[in-house]
Amino acid sequence: VTAPTAAAYSAAGGVWQQGPGRIYDRLAEVVVGCSPVSVAGALALDLGAGTGAAGRALLAAGASAVVAVDAAHGMLAHDAATRPPAVAADALRIPFSARRFGVTVAAFSLTHLLDPSTGLREAARVTDAEGAVITSAYAADDIHPVKAAVEEALRARGWRPEPWYEVLRSTSAPKLATVDGCRAAAAGAGLASVDIVALRVPFPELGAAELVSWRMGLAQHAPFVAALPTDADRADAVADAIGRLGTDWPILERSILVIAAKVGEVDR
Ligand SMILES: C[S@@+](CC[C@H](N)C(=O)[O-])C[C@H]1O[C@@H](n2cnc3c(N)ncnc32)[C@H](O)[C@@H]1O
Repeated sequence: VTAPTAAAYSAAGGVWQQGPGRIYDRLAEVVVGCSPVSVAGALALDLGAGTGAAGRALLAAGASAVVAVDAAHGMLAHDAATRPPAVAADALRIPFSARRFGVTVAAFSLTHLLDPSTGLREAARVTDAEGAVITSAYAADDIHPVKAAVEEALRARGWRPEPWYEVLRSTSAPKLATVDGCRAAAAGAGLASVDIVALRVPFPELGAAELVSWRMGLAQHAPFVAALPTDADRADAVADAIGRLGTDWPILERSILVIAAKVGEVDR
């Protein structure tokens, strides 16, 4: 599953930051704010970093330095000259020695794993016993009509979900979409001191065009949108999605779950 997922995210690359980025940057600040230990002065790992949202939030919170890891080279390549150092690698085999980091943040990335416990265990391995692992996921009630509006507009143009995305939405993501699922994943990783925080993060400033650009910039859609023959075709798809969304839609409020764990003595 990992290679096609990474390829799709790599293809999303820069488009991600123009659309989804405006949402993920804010969410990352909220996620980092859930750290059960002080981030100030810590060497931090941004695991599944994408275009670097959590790394920016960690530095803003006082981390001394950040290292990014992501399976998708194309996401790490975005704005690379001004970003923290990064390694293209799988979250299940982080290429660092044990206890290397004070804080590890995996923002909306371990949701891609078939076994999130293994990812959490690996995150804990590279994190100091006095440190913390903070992971976030979308809750089961994270819904908004723009999701269906964009999917229908793209289906009308031939988009079909790729197998990696089918696995993500049917099997991987649901594992961390409930408080019980998060608790089970943390327990399976051997983490004993764990808070599961349920949060709703509103985005009242986003209009229909921004909501559509969020959805179209995601990895399941961005490569298809980029491959539409002309800019006019892309504009047409956007207009269609905005039309399907209509005018009677609620403010976007993302419903997320954060696993905030003090690492302690885990099996390394
Ligand atoms: C939804 S994006 C979130 C990116 C970023 N953390 C943020 O909050 O904006 C998920 C990221 O996880 C990465 N990812 C998915 N599976 C991974 C794996 N097995 N190892 C490392 N990174 C992975 C993807 O390449 C992608 O960049």
